[in-house]
Amino acid sequence: MRKIWLDTDPGFDDWLTMLLLSANPWLEWLGVSVAAGNAPLDVTYDNALRIKAHYGLDVPVYRGCAEPLNGRQETAQCILGEAGMRTTGASLPPVAAAAPDLHACDALIAAIRRHPGEITLLAIAPLTNVATALLRAPDIAARIKEIILMGGSTDQGNHTAAAEFNIYADPEAADVVFRSGVPLRMFGLNLCRQLAVTGAEVAQVREVGTQRSDWLAGYLEGYLRIRSADGGVPMPMYDPVVALYLRWPELFEFKPAHVAIELNGRFTRGMTVCEFRVPQRAAANVEIAVAANGWLAMQHLMEDLLPAIS
Ligand code: BDR
Ligand code: CA
Repeated sequence: MRKIWLDTDPGFDDWLTMLLLSANPWLEWLGVSVAAGNAPLDVTYDNALRIKAHYGLDVPVYRGCAEPLNGRQETAQCILGEAGMRTTGASLPPVAAAAPDLHACDALIAAIRRHPGEITLLAIAPLTNVATALLRAPDIAARIKEIILMGGSTDQGNHTAAAEFNIYADPEAADVVFRSGVPLRMFGLNLCRQLAVTGAEVAQVREVGTQRSDWLAGYLEGYLRIRSADGGVPMPMYDPVVALYLRWPELFEFKPAHVAIELNGRFTRGMTVCEFRVPQRAAANVEIAVAANGWLAMQHLMEDLLPAIS
């Protein structure tokens, strides 16, 4: 069984990722570290606890860093609303707050030291927790099997013209991770745009007809309506691509590249500058997903999702 750890900032697409991971019988899911990102940490942590409780996830959830490395917080609440995820239906009911536990970065460090060379770290949030763990315990870089991340882009951004949200929200953290020497696999916007959510998926979720599917259908419809008020324009599927890759790696193609994070540009801060001319111009530090069978990936996503909400 492949050992995994998830770093996340729920976020609706983070939620879908959690459901797909829990449906994958070949994974041993060791823990979840929650980062600030789509919303401030209090909100993303609360969302993670609600998802865990209402969807029966059997995994420890830890609270991580509240602020990016440079202290200037950026959220996606301008698009997603206060709760960091939009719904056209009922909100996930609140759950009792868990007593403060081990800090997420310390829990992650301990897990990596307990299982050297075995943990695949899935990072689908701003990279604050991952970078903090690497800075706090430099020995773990050589002990992480691989980091698979959703973030960046080989072409346009989404939060700005140049930058994807997860990288823009903490470029200094991304810089630490991309220079860490840990084997990296990057799923950027260029790839995620090849997988699309439409009204058909909302209808399939709604048809399941349970309390869990009703909640999820409302949020899925809210997610679809980020793009267009009536939900008529397909919406790219972001974070779940990492879970789909673990289950169906044959659906994706990669190219080695050197990625540098722009930290200073007036218009380009948070951009992932991708040099594919490796090793001639630079040593590769990442495998970038460049192509996917998006249609089949969405079919598989629904095959795993529907039983998880019935
Ligand atoms: C990424 O940003 C967040 O809003 C999503 O959860 C995803 O991780 C997409 O740019
Ligand atoms: Ca996310």
